[in-house]
Amino acid sequence: MVGMPILPSQRHLFDLPGHVAYLNCAYMGPLSNAVAEATHGGVDRKRHPWAVFPADFFSLADQARAAFATLLGAPATAEDIALVPAASYGMAVASANLTVRPGQTILVLAEEFPSTILTWRERARAGGAELVTVPRPADHDWTAAILAAIDDRTAVAALPAVHWIDGATIDLVRIGARLRQVGAALALDLTQSLGARPFPLAEVDPDFLVVAAYKWLLSPYSTGFLYVAPRHQNGRPLEHHWFGRAGAQDFSNLGYPDGFQRGARRFDVGEPANFALLPGVTAALEQILDWGVDRIAATAGAFTDAIATRADPLGLAAVPTQLRARHYLGLKAAGALPAGLAGLLTRQGVHISIRGGRTLRITPHVYNEWWEVDRLFSVLEPAFAAARP
Ligand SMILES: Cc1ncc(COP(=O)(O)O)c(C=O)c1O
Repeated sequence: MVGMPILPSQRHLFDLPGHVAYLNCAYMGPLSNAVAEATHGGVDRKRHPWAVFPADFFSLADQARAAFATLLGAPATAEDIALVPAASYGMAVASANLTVRPGQTILVLAEEFPSTILTWRERARAGGAELVTVPRPADHDWTAAILAAIDDRTAVAALPAVHWIDGATIDLVRIGARLRQVGAALALDLTQSLGARPFPLAEVDPDFLVVAAYKWLLSPYSTGFLYVAPRHQNGRPLEHHWFGRAGAQDFSNLGYPDGFQRGARRFDVGEPANFALLPGVTAALEQILDWGVDRIAATAGAFTDAIATRADPLGLAAVPTQLRARHYLGLKAAGALPAGLAGLLTRQGVHISIRGGRTLRITPHVYNEWWEVDRLFSVLEPAFAAARP
């Protein structure tokens, strides 16, 4: 990815006012104007239900599946994708379909996002298994720490590609290979990376992979995707709705068949053909594909590199460059953050997150501009100078 050209600011495609420095995509990605229009179009469609035909339910859902499969890359196709409303829903499908025997272990990361921990803690409790939390490594090398934790007892590893607090990366190719050696499964939550960081699906070969789409997929809230490896596509859905069953296309003759729709469609949430939201999701995915994930990563990376360098003299430490994602920067303060920092930032129109108590999480995208970085430091520099002992 070295030498990848960066994109000029794409701010004109969004409704981001001049006083807003929005460096917080990991919290929530903004809808572009085109995505907002597509979503409004979806709402309008429901005003005229006589113009909505049974085939539209399926084509709407399948367009979104196809766009997501393209983003995910080969060997994924639309057949492998289920529509889910949240990461937690996708993790629940994974949990219901992966074998965990009493005495086995489930691996998760320290300080991981709650949707993953809660799902697998419940599963461990229910199945007499042990939830093993890989501690945060002092050298930021999560990959080595996870590899060291995998052994013959491991049933499942539930992991991200990028730690949601500070952007530390995890080499899922090496971890996937090691898990296969011990016969363990891999369930991924790529909410904080897919769309802004390339992902080698074929080499990682996860069993299940979920993405909540409202962050880096720049999509409406309550939308998301679940990739199900073909080896699990005969599994058990969480819900039994008519939409997932064979013959659902024939609205005039619905029965109670045992058979399912093809591929991963059986795992869809009920009412997957969301007329209001899915047109926006598909438009957002097409825009991301048009920019290119490599170029999004490089563009965001130019900002995070510059911010990390400028933050260093303030005593704010980032994960070393070779171990952090280009689009995702966590700046950890040595001690407590200056009093009232969150309020100072908001009053200046600077939007970032504070996570894990004293890490400033700064997550730019292609709509950002350099004045936003200056605005950020116009708050951070005096605040940290004043807080120095
Ligand atoms: C890593 C990660 N996964 C998932 C989510 C969202 O989870 P859910 O869709 O279950 O609300 C977030 C939100 O911050 C996140 O950071």
